[in-house]
Amino acid sequence: MRAFTTFSPLRKTLLGLAMAGALGAAGQAQAGEVEVLHWWTSGGEAKAVGELRDLLEAEGHEWKDFAVAGGAGDSAMTVLKSRAMSGNPPAAAQINGPSIQEWGELGLLGNLDGVAEAGNWDELLPEVVSNMMRHDGHYVAVPVNVHRVNWLWANPEVLEDAGVEMPTTWDELFAAGETLRDAGYVPLAHGGQPWQDATIFESVVLSLGGSDFYRRAFVDLDEKTLQSDTMIEALTTFKRLRKLMDEGMPGRDWNLATGMVIDGEAAMQIMGDWAKGEFTAAGMKAGEDYVCAPVPGTKDAFTFNIDSFAMFQLGDEEAREAQKTLARLILEPEFQKTFNQIKGSIPARPDLDMSGFDSCAKRSMQDFQAARDANTLVPSMAHRMAMRSDVQGAFFDIITNYFNSSDMAAEQAAERLAQAAKLAM
Ligand code: GAL
Repeated sequence: MRAFTTFSPLRKTLLGLAMAGALGAAGQAQAGEVEVLHWWTSGGEAKAVGELRDLLEAEGHEWKDFAVAGGAGDSAMTVLKSRAMSGNPPAAAQINGPSIQEWGELGLLGNLDGVAEAGNWDELLPEVVSNMMRHDGHYVAVPVNVHRVNWLWANPEVLEDAGVEMPTTWDELFAAGETLRDAGYVPLAHGGQPWQDATIFESVVLSLGGSDFYRRAFVDLDEKTLQSDTMIEALTTFKRLRKLMDEGMPGRDWNLATGMVIDGEAAMQIMGDWAKGEFTAAGMKAGEDYVCAPVPGTKDAFTFNIDSFAMFQLGDEEAREAQKTLARLILEPEFQKTFNQIKGSIPARPDLDMSGFDSCAKRSMQDFQAARDANTLVPSMAHRMAMRSDVQGAFFDIITNYFNSSDMAAEQAAERLAQAAKLAM
């Protein structure tokens, strides 16, 4: 059925109709269309989401692609809001974390309890995952994966050429950075966009403060914690990292930064494991052509970022059937394995055999479970897992302004974070 994608659009429609007829005749669901909003447009991401489209089309339904470029989905969320405000939301949209609750409160999301019950989601999913998928006790979204955010990636050839080891502490990282710079490399590849700045910052906070501190700061939004000496130290360390970056970083997309590590122009990148999707798409092998390690000082913790699709209420019955099929397919083993191997994440359901996954993914799965047991599993602030979107937006502004300004002191940034936290009260 994959060959579908190479057919002309007309032929595809006709085939879709024929198949819908066949399914209908067999007493099953009619073909419907699902419009899917997502932001997976980089090489690895696009390949991964193509798997879902193929599976849906193989069931005779139509996938209407609604891709909005922009890492971490900031632009996609703006577009979603305007579509919803005009009374025309897509059938499915990539919505992550507490934002699912915000959309649920607006009364716009459909109910997936039937699919969840038939697929035994309560049993399959870790509680931390399934809790996020429900609004008011009902399933309204389906999880695709679990990404780990606190990763450091490196090109081992570059490290070797400069004669440095993969750093495990900040001191080692800063020292390696200097040596790498002298050897002609960009020590740390980065794209200066608010979400990428926040992705690095949250890992530094986790490293210096530990998981309880991280939760007090980003989940409880505790003002004292946000202004504490530890937070000021984290802000200072974060800003020091800027010296390891290159001048071309403003506005650069994350996958271009990963490309610099792939090409050997840069040595390292701090980024979630969607970066692995780019290494994989470039034909590189984990542990050989590229290496992964937890961000210094965070090996016993796991910052999670769960991608999920929330389903909007639909009037059309065929479209509703197609939407339910999409939700069912997402948690089936075939999709969970293929998609996540391409995407760089681990399956949302921990019962699957991980033997086909690479060494970084295997480590991620082990560390996820260990962190769950040790209570060191923390939600990503930078990826909408920890707080409501208005507070997160304010945090992004402060973090980015501080990172790029030459005259804002760490103390001042900490104070502003504490003030922004009041927004949530
Ligand atoms: C994250 C998302 C990932 C990846 C990344 C870059 O927020 O969860 O799946 O796509 O953004 O776009």
